[in-house]
Amino acid sequence: MNFNEELRDRVRTAEEMVIKYGVSAEEGYQKTVLSAMNYSLLSGGKRLRPVMMREACTLFGGEHPCLGAFMAALEMIHTYSLVHDDLPAMDNDEYRRGKKTTHIVYGEDMAILTGDALLNKAYETVAHSLDLCADDPELTKRALTALKILTHKSGIYGMVGGQVYDVEAEDNNITLSEDSILFIFRLKTGALIQAALTIGAVLGGATQEEVDVMELVGEAVGIAFQIKDDILDVTGNPKILGKPVGSDEKNHKTTYVTIKGLKVASEDVNSYSNRAVELLGTLDKKNEFLEELIKFLINRDR
Ligand code: IPE
Ligand code: IPE
Ligand code: MG
Ligand code: MG
Ligand code: MG
Repeated sequence: MNFNEELRDRVRTAEEMVIKYGVSAEEGYQKTVLSAMNYSLLSGGKRLRPVMMREACTLFGGEHPCLGAFMAALEMIHTYSLVHDDLPAMDNDEYRRGKKTTHIVYGEDMAILTGDALLNKAYETVAHSLDLCADDPELTKRALTALKILTHKSGIYGMVGGQVYDVEAEDNNITLSEDSILFIFRLKTGALIQAALTIGAVLGGATQEEVDVMELVGEAVGIAFQIKDDILDVTGNPKILGKPVGSDEKNHKTTYVTIKGLKVASEDVNSYSNRAVELLGTLDKKNEFLEELIKFLINRDR
């Protein structure tokens, strides 16, 4: 199989987990939000975080009965972060994943509640999956460590924390230094990618030293990913991206491109990605697909 076929195959598996654990029956008095949850979750995201999680698990030779639940949970948390990120009070965007954003279709009130509900469903999904390894103390220990990572990386010291300073700087016209924009990128984007790689590693049975390496890999991939996202906000094709270009400019946001220019930004995507691949190379285990995926993201167009 070539890389593109392998990627399609991996994304299909991630999609199956999202459907298995993430889809809700659209019924009862909460029907509107249940339908908005499905709309947001089942809408053609790239599914990179669950794919990376599974590859990290494979890298350490492991399988874990809770892996699918964690893959779906991370994608639910990522999706909730996007639903809220698009709200008028935040980036105020009308398109996401090629469709109208959740607040445009369901209203702002429902979009806020949809995000809340997805976040909660993520933890509910993981909590229920613990039954699958309850009779094995080692697998239970790994799952609980993974849950700690998921909560930490999603919260105020992770994704939420990055979003806080991102919008605060924008609202107050704070000029960001390279240092402070990297702080934002590490948290708002890096943290969930770190969660993907470290949770996969933990579930697969990696040692603490190996998990630490994966956390550094995730940091570098996350920074590269967000620099590229800032570039695509300027140079991308909205039809392919599935979201508007020019969103950052509209919001007068300081981005990596406004600080460094397109040329240096592109060079830095390369160097952070290369650093990630080098760090992976320090492990005595190999996953060629994961390496290829990190390189592939350098030139992605969506
Ligand atoms: C978008 O993430 C938000 C960022 C962190 C830049 P993705 O580019 O992974 O979005 P989807 O899941 O494919 O829609
Ligand atoms: C990343 O930043 C957002 C999240 C962590 C949710 P952006 O605001 O640049 O993401 P896009 O461009 O809207 O996907
Ligand atoms: Mg944003
Ligand atoms: Mg945005
Ligand atoms: Mg962006």
